[in-house]
Amino acid sequence: MELRTCGKSDIEISPMGIGCWSYGGGDYWGPQAQSDVTDVVHAALDAGINFFDTAEGYNEGRSEEALGVALKGRRHEAIIGTKVSSPDPTKIHERCEASLRRLQTDYIDIYMIHWPNDEFPIDESMAELTKLEEDGLIRAIGVSNFGLSQLTAALGTGAEITVNQLCYNLLSRAIELELLPLCIEHSVGILGYMPLLQGILTGKYKSAEEIPPMHSRFRHFRDDRPMAAHGEAGVEHELFETLEGIRNIADAENIPMSRLAITWTMAKPGITCMLVGTRNVDELKENLRAIEYTPSNNLIQQLNQLTMPLLEKMGTNLDYFTGKRTH
Ligand SMILES: NC(=O)c1ccc[n+]([C@@H]2O[C@H](COP(=O)([O-])OP(=O)(O)OC[C@H]3O[C@@H](n4cnc5c(N)ncnc54)[C@H](OP(=O)(O)O)[C@@H]3O)[C@@H](O)[C@H]2O)c1
Repeated sequence: MELRTCGKSDIEISPMGIGCWSYGGGDYWGPQAQSDVTDVVHAALDAGINFFDTAEGYNEGRSEEALGVALKGRRHEAIIGTKVSSPDPTKIHERCEASLRRLQTDYIDIYMIHWPNDEFPIDESMAELTKLEEDGLIRAIGVSNFGLSQLTAALGTGAEITVNQLCYNLLSRAIELELLPLCIEHSVGILGYMPLLQGILTGKYKSAEEIPPMHSRFRHFRDDRPMAAHGEAGVEHELFETLEGIRNIADAENIPMSRLAITWTMAKPGITCMLVGTRNVDELKENLRAIEYTPSNNLIQQLNQLTMPLLEKMGTNLDYFTGKRTH
């Protein structure tokens, strides 16, 4: 499989990575058997997928643990990305060591700040991360969900930022307007997350009412959905209209909507890798077909046009969860 270089580092990863948020099981995603995790990780490595994305915050550390178990004996074949929840500079070192223990490894390939937090001085957070890199505990520094001014400030510290992990899918295109060009300009790779908007882009839901509360909390949905906390009116009508259009295009291409959605994200210049939450080998097999599928320029343009009104309506705010943390 073609590998892509992350930023200015020497780390090369596959254009699709495995999103490990559900691993270890928990309230958000429900149960997740370790046998499925291990099978997915091994089948992914066998197929040439080498990047695995987790975080200390996923299922209170159980995602990192589950990935560590699955990678036993094959750690050297994998590139691990994990995230520290808070950029608190006084905690970063101990948090990193705890992640290393859970992952059963002595180095993390890409260590990212999960969400920006303006309460902490970014130069001190970056200095701590740089020290981890110098000490060999991590190979590269990354950030996640950093907006225009937050990324500019982080780059301004002089730290080498290899990636910014950001939400990107047909229904959540905010990064295209300003942030993606900035990342390209500074050679910061983009790891795109939620290419399926947590299953919504598979087309399995016909209405917002059918979507489980944890997956209908995004700014696309009304704020009175059970887990929503963004204070916005949502764009539910436009969302389902757009989904219908995507379904029609997928039907005309004779491919599942999920494949169309993933392949569109991977084709975007500036995207280094798309992270797909993959719960079992059947999902993996289907998602691998998105790598083999080369969409025509015409198809890309059709999808761009179809989803543009939603992009215009939702704007440049790239925090699709709360709308409040990035700028
Ligand atoms: N940095 C951040 O703040 C951040 C935020 C969110 C996510 N992430 C990362 O990005 C990764 C991906 O995002 P995500 O997992 O939230 O959402 P996603 O990739 O958009 O959706 C994943 C879900 O879609 C379903 N799915 C996957 N492949 C499928 C297929 N072929 N057919 C039908 N359904 C399929 C699965 O759910 P079911 O099997 O349950 O239906 C799966 O859990 C995460 O795992 C995490 O590593 C990072």
